Amino acid sequence: MNAITMIKQRRSVRKYKNKKVNRATMKEIVSLSRWAPSWANFQIARYTLVDDAATIEKLATDGVKGFTYNINTLKNAHGVAVLSFVKGKSGKFDPKKGDYATTKSNEWEAFDAGIACQTFCLAAHAKGVGTCIFGVIDEELISGIVGLPDEETVAALIVYGYEEGEHAEPTPRKEVDEILRFV
Ligand SMILES: Cc1cc2nc3c(=O)[nH]c(=O)nc-3n(C[C@H](O)[C@H](O)[C@H](O)COP(=O)(O)O)c2cc1C
Repeated sequence: MNAITMIKQRRSVRKYKNKKVNRATMKEIVSLSRWAPSWANFQIARYTLVDDAATIEKLATDGVKGFTYNINTLKNAHGVAVLSFVKGKSGKFDPKKGDYATTKSNEWEAFDAGIACQTFCLAAHAKGVGTCIFGVIDEELISGIVGLPDEETVAALIVYGYEEGEHAEPTPRKEVDEILRFV
């Protein structure tokens, strides 16, 4: 799949077939995600893949703040990636100590996680696996459910699986002249 097709055809997928994506395929997708750029190449993103029905149900009941839309998506999902990142490194020259290098201080860690997230979604799409990013989540409860190490925090959930039915309709985009300026 070429890059332009990949970018334009990726959609948020919320209806999944009753079929798990095998772990070897998911390992390949995470292996591709490693090519995401990151602050000073610190590579702080981590992927905890949940493919067990009881844990996915727990994420639905406790992890999405009771948001029905997300609960309904999780009800037909067989895979969820908990995207997390190692705290306190990105934004610094020295990951072990020192002040943040810019006025954005630690905001670069969420920036890194965002790039990792889109790289994961595009890699998944290229491998025929649909994804949906969830931002309406309870980071603390999710950390507990999947047992994240203390040095990490949850950035987002990415639900994944084989899409059921027709490929989701494209959502509208602003015109390029609304978002672009040259100086
Ligand atoms: C940071 C972020 C948070 C999001 N949170 C949710 C969410 O909680 N639930 C959901 O169903 N979709 C969520 N989405 C998906 C967006 O609604 C979706 O990307 C957007 O409408 C564009 O549609 P598309 O992904 O199909 O192009 C989120 C996307 C991003 C980037």
